[in-house]
Order: sequence, then C-alpha cells, then structure tokens
Amino acid sequence: MPEQNFHMTPDEFRKYGREVVDWIADYYENVEKYPVLSQVNPGDIRANLPVDPPEKGETFEHILRDMNNIILPGVTHWQSPNFFAFFPANASFPAILGELLSAGLGVQGMLWLTSPACTELETHVLDWLVEMMGLPGKFKSDSSGGGVIQDSASGAALCALLAARERVTKYETNKNGCDGRLVAYVSTQTHSSVEKAVRIAGIGSNNLRYIEVDETFAMSPDDLVEQIELDRYAGLIPFFVCATVGTTSSNAMDPLPEIGGICREEGLWLHVDGGMSGSATVCPEFRTIINGLDYADSYCFNPHKWMFTNFDCDCFYVADRAALINTLSILPEYLKNKATESGAVIDYRDWHVPLGRRFRSLKLWFVLRHYGVDGLRHHIRRHVELAQQFAGWIKESKNFELAVPAPLNLVCFRYIGGDEVNKSLLEKLNKSGKIYLSHTVLDDKYTLRFCVAQTHTEDKHVKDAWELIRQVAGELGK
Ligand SMILES: Cc1ncc(COP(=O)(O)O)c(C=O)c1O
Repeated sequence: MPEQNFHMTPDEFRKYGREVVDWIADYYENVEKYPVLSQVNPGDIRANLPVDPPEKGETFEHILRDMNNIILPGVTHWQSPNFFAFFPANASFPAILGELLSAGLGVQGMLWLTSPACTELETHVLDWLVEMMGLPGKFKSDSSGGGVIQDSASGAALCALLAARERVTKYETNKNGCDGRLVAYVSTQTHSSVEKAVRIAGIGSNNLRYIEVDETFAMSPDDLVEQIELDRYAGLIPFFVCATVGTTSSNAMDPLPEIGGICREEGLWLHVDGGMSGSATVCPEFRTIINGLDYADSYCFNPHKWMFTNFDCDCFYVADRAALINTLSILPEYLKNKATESGAVIDYRDWHVPLGRRFRSLKLWFVLRHYGVDGLRHHIRRHVELAQQFAGWIKESKNFELAVPAPLNLVCFRYIGGDEVNKSLLEKLNKSGKIYLSHTVLDDKYTLRFCVAQTHTEDKHVKDAWELIRQVAGELGK
C-alpha cells in the first residue's frame, strides 16, 4: 500500500498545466475586453473569499473557477496593450515559459554549488547584455566588475549605496554603524527608492540632498558641486550620487559626463539608475543617453519594465565587484564549501540582500534567444516611434500642450485649462476602462503621463487612445 498523500500527480499536473497554459493564452487573446484599471472597490475581493482556509483540499476546477470569478475582476491589466500608466511591467510568452521552467525546477541558487547553471547562466546573460546594450566593459565578469539580477531597481540602489558607504568608511560602518556624517545626493526628480535606501542603510533622510534640476528636469551639475562644497565645509562626508537616465516623472536624462566628472574629482560613488530607459540602449541610436556611463561605479536597468521579461528582473552592474562582495558577504559554517573556497566561482548570495535566489536568468535568456537583438530593437524602436507620433499630435493640437519634450517613449502632456480639468480628464479616462494613464506634477502643474511600452501595444491602440482622450476632453469643456 503506498503511503497516503495529498499531492497532485504528474498526470494531473500535465492535464491542469495544459489548462493553465491555455488559460494564459486565452487571457492574452481577450485582455482588451477587460477594463484596464480594475474597477473594484476596496474590500470587494476579500468579501468574496471564505473567512476560513479550506480544511479539505479542493478540486483544481474549483480553484480555476474562482480565479476567473473572484480574482480576475480585481486585476489591473498591466499586460493590456491599452496600459499607458506609470512605467510598464511588460511580459512576453517566452519570458512566461522561462518563469514556468524556473518554478518547475524550484532551484534556490544562493551559492554556485546549489545550482551551477543558475549562477553561470546569469553571469553569461549579464555579460551578453553588456555587449548588446553598449555598456562599459568594466561591468563584465572577466574584468574587475560584473552583473547580477536583483529583484528591483530599489534593491540595486540599496546595494550600491551600501557598497559606497563601506568603500568610503573602509568597511568600518559595517562594524560600528553610521556616525551621521555621510551625505548622499540625488536630484529632485530621482526615484523615491533612493531615499528609501538611504533610510535603510542608516544614512538618514536628513543626509540626503535633493539637487535642483534645469528646465528639462535634469540634475544641475553646478548645484551639485555647490552642495558638495557646502557639506565638506560643514565637516560632512559626501560619498554617493545617484544620477538617472529616464526619470520616473518625465523621463529626464541627468548629464552623466558632467556628474561623472564631479564624482571622479570628489571621490564619490556614482550610481546610475536606468530603471526604465536603460532598455533603449539595445538600439545604438539611443545610446547617447548613457554617454558618460564610464564614470559610473554601478548601473541598473529593468528588463521587467521594457524588455519583455516579466517581473521581477533588474540587471545591476558594478565596476568593482570586490566592494560589493566585501560589503555584503558573511560566510557561516553551514554555507562553506569547496567551490567557494577555491575562489573559482561566483556566489551571488553576496551580491544582494536576500540569501536565497530564484533562477531568474532563465526567463531573460528565453527572451534574448526568442527575440534576438534584432527583435528587441524592432519593438523598442516601434514603441519610441508610437510615443513620438503621439507627442506630435499633442504638439499640433491647440487644446493640448506638451509639458516637456519626450526623449523616448514617455509623453507628458496637459489639456489646456488647468489642474482641475486635467484631474477630471484622467479620472474619466481611467474609469472608462478603455485605457489607463497616470499623472505627475511638473512645474507645479498637474500633468498626464502616456507611456508606450506594453509588449503588444500597436499603432491602433495609440490612435484609439488619442481619439478617446480628445473626445473625453471635449465633453469636459474647460
Ligand atoms: C527610474 C526608476 N528607478 C527606479 C524605479 C523603481 O523600480 P523597481 O520597482 O524596480 O524598484 C522606478 C520605477 O518606476 C523608476 O522609474
């Protein structure tokens, strides 16, 4: 008599696995039928879930039925081609299949030993990306640096900040904690993840300086120099600058050559955040945005935003891997092994905050192999073209204005008539369920953001969106 168990059998897994793959394919075929922004109210989803967990296991049919009836209405459809909000988290079928295999293998790749392929594929794919994206050679694993997949640009910023903190204090802060004298610099437009990192790293928000920006919302190098001087004069220790290529609010590009020169002169760690726009450098014509990246000590961009790789996948590079590893490495007895001791392998547990790590490079590898460099370039170029076409319509219209020139695929615009009318416009558009846009404030004015980067967005979606925006704006009057 076999021992009693409650597991799903391989045959059941085959059957339901096929159903789930069909479910996903159907979902993508029908995604435009759902309201892009979920229309449920707070608490609606929980109200449909049983108060108590199931005492007895349920059938898969039952679970999938609830997926359709309870969960789906509470989903905002990030994979809809009519999703133009925030920055996207775009996915693709090859990535989803890579993710499925990663889940299937269930590998935990904290050490090279715990799954050599998990480590070596990651190193290899990140090296490929250095070449593909036109990044400095110092980020490759055969140099002093290297790349690693992090969960997010936020995690990357934290690791960069920690390594910078340790470099400047000669690894003393790890032992004794911060003394409140270290100062970090960002622009007023830098993503909030850096302030979060500053808090977590014990630097303290009061030691984070927000540098003014110019009319394109890019960091002002002169103001940076001035602030560094003031801080040194006050006996503080400037140590870290985060520059952004493609800010979240408006896609502003901080001037890397000037900021890099300052960091070099002053001995500060330069982290460059290319969270969204970094993916554009797969196209040689967009590489001007990373001119000056040679100065950077670290850099990140998110394939989970604009390289068709489902969340989570941030590529984080450092010029000096020793600084990062010496900052984060602790080797307890239970992790010791011959491969680590040989020094011949990478143990990625030392490259980020968690110990455990998923086989994330599989999905990225699937994407790179499926699309090839040509395919990625094609789709990224197309997104930029579509955004530029939309920006052109805004420019031509006498009822709308561009808030700022659109460098790539994000268009920031306003309906002429003030904040209130723009707020109503956004609310009505999103309530329609037909498209989803988000907002920001630029020059103290409420501004709508239209980002073209969802995997399946085509000409017709952008045209339909523009039609709808004009129609709803027209109904609002001013
Ligand atoms: C420029 C930039 N940096 C960092 C982030 C944070 O991204 P993540 O969710 O990967 O932490 C974002 C998110 O939109 C971003 O736009």
